[in-house]
Amino acid sequence: MVSYGILFLGLFILFFTNEVCLLENGLAKTPPMGWMSWGYYMCADNCSANPDRCLNEELIMSVADAFYNEGYQEAGYEYIIIDDCWSERQRDEKGRLVPDHKRFPRGMKFLADYIHGKGLKFGMYLNIAVDTCMRYPGSRGHFRVDTKSLAEWDVDYVKVDGCFVEEEYLDIAYIKLGHYLNKTGRPMVYSCSWPYYKKYIHKHEPVYSQIVPICNMWRNYHDVAVKWGHVRYIYKFYEGMATEIGKYHGPGHWNDPDMLIVGTNALSPNQNRIQMSIWAMLSAPLIFSCDMKQVTADERRLLQNLQLIAVAQDPLGRMATPHKIQRDVTIWVKLHLPSKGDMFYSYSFAIVNLGTTSVSVTLRPRRYGLNSTDDYTVMDVFSGNMLKNMSAYASMEVIVPPEDVIMYSLFPL
Ligand SMILES: *[C@@H]1O[C@H](CO)[C@@H](O)[C@H](O)[C@H]1NC(C)=O
Ligand SMILES: *[C@@H]1O[C@H](CO)[C@@H](O)[C@H](O)[C@H]1NC(C)=O
Ligand SMILES: *[C@@H]1O[C@H](CO)[C@@H](O)[C@H](O)[C@H]1NC(C)=O
Ligand SMILES: *[C@@H]1O[C@H](CO)[C@@H](O)[C@H](O)[C@H]1NC(C)=O
Repeated sequence: MVSYGILFLGLFILFFTNEVCLLENGLAKTPPMGWMSWGYYMCADNCSANPDRCLNEELIMSVADAFYNEGYQEAGYEYIIIDDCWSERQRDEKGRLVPDHKRFPRGMKFLADYIHGKGLKFGMYLNIAVDTCMRYPGSRGHFRVDTKSLAEWDVDYVKVDGCFVEEEYLDIAYIKLGHYLNKTGRPMVYSCSWPYYKKYIHKHEPVYSQIVPICNMWRNYHDVAVKWGHVRYIYKFYEGMATEIGKYHGPGHWNDPDMLIVGTNALSPNQNRIQMSIWAMLSAPLIFSCDMKQVTADERRLLQNLQLIAVAQDPLGRMATPHKIQRDVTIWVKLHLPSKGDMFYSYSFAIVNLGTTSVSVTLRPRRYGLNSTDDYTVMDVFSGNMLKNMSAYASMEVIVPPEDVIMYSLFPL
């Protein structure tokens, strides 16, 4: 354990101290895991028309119950996050945001207490503009009062959106809001959308060295939607950008490819495996969004796959490196713990085939940095089976079916 600590400190000094300092709120040392309303429920505020798709107190409590009763909490899922559309249309006479009276009749402190009572954590949503993305009241001009409200409600996590502002304001607002969050004295995970708006709305490259000291995590790319095509676009983005943005990624500060849609039954089993394994390989936040009552048994097993979650939550927090070996086929490689001494690390390989025919891939571990002269034990992450022991200098043939992924973890013996 001591040697991991020293190694980590070494990497940390190497990568960061000369360039930038990091946000020091002590949170998100591993990528946050949880559930968020947006992906599946979106702005579900018309409850009389759609009682089954309603963003209200009952929904949030039912997610906490499901986490507590159905194994999600034991697997590591922790944060339950309300996205946009939670407030009344008007602030109160003191200028404070007020939770929607009909949908959240007992208020947010009540929900926080309920969630904390189960040993879980509570997240909420703000936007830096006058309005939120869905035209609810935004926080511009109210940063102090809104962060204070969140702290009084015992919120643990805040997602802050960046719709409807000019670029100069975008670049100062996240810094200012972070300052007010800190001043509340309550540690809250600070999830930003700054680089996304910088790049895709204002058409300038984000300066990640400015973002890392301010936010615990940040969205780099477009929102996911409950469709395979969106997961695929996001996959492609990270495949292209991993090297560039990987260096800003680590304990306390994460690139965020947005929510998992595993659990919505929108993806086939193989597509579910691709999203889940690549998010784990990226050390991405694992925040899913779905109707907890409709999660299939297969989806639940995948969401709660402990071998996969161990890779996702590895304390070193590396982003996997993609090696494209042919059109539509990429080998993602991630170094992680446990290590044998301070030399020989474990590695996971996710071999993704986005093509329409099966491919046979020759995996030569030595090529990707595995260098122990003793053997490695090979585990199939999805089944949990130990397949065999092999030398890093040997090779193995892996058949990857069309639009699927094979994922192995190799542990040094
Ligand atoms: C809710 O949906 C119903 C049926 O579509 C519609 O008539 C009503 O205007 C909606 N209410 C609000 C507040 O949007
Ligand atoms: C506020 O920032 C200081 C200095 O970085 C840090 O030590 C402290 O833990 C922060 N507090 C909160 C509540 O985030
Ligand atoms: C093996 O790889 C690790 C990680 O890249 C490196 O620190 C170590 O020096 C290498 N050891 C040998 C014997 O090559
Ligand atoms: C791999 O090697 C270990 C240690 O020698 C041994 O306990 C284990 O049974 C081997 N596993 C397989 C699948 O051969």
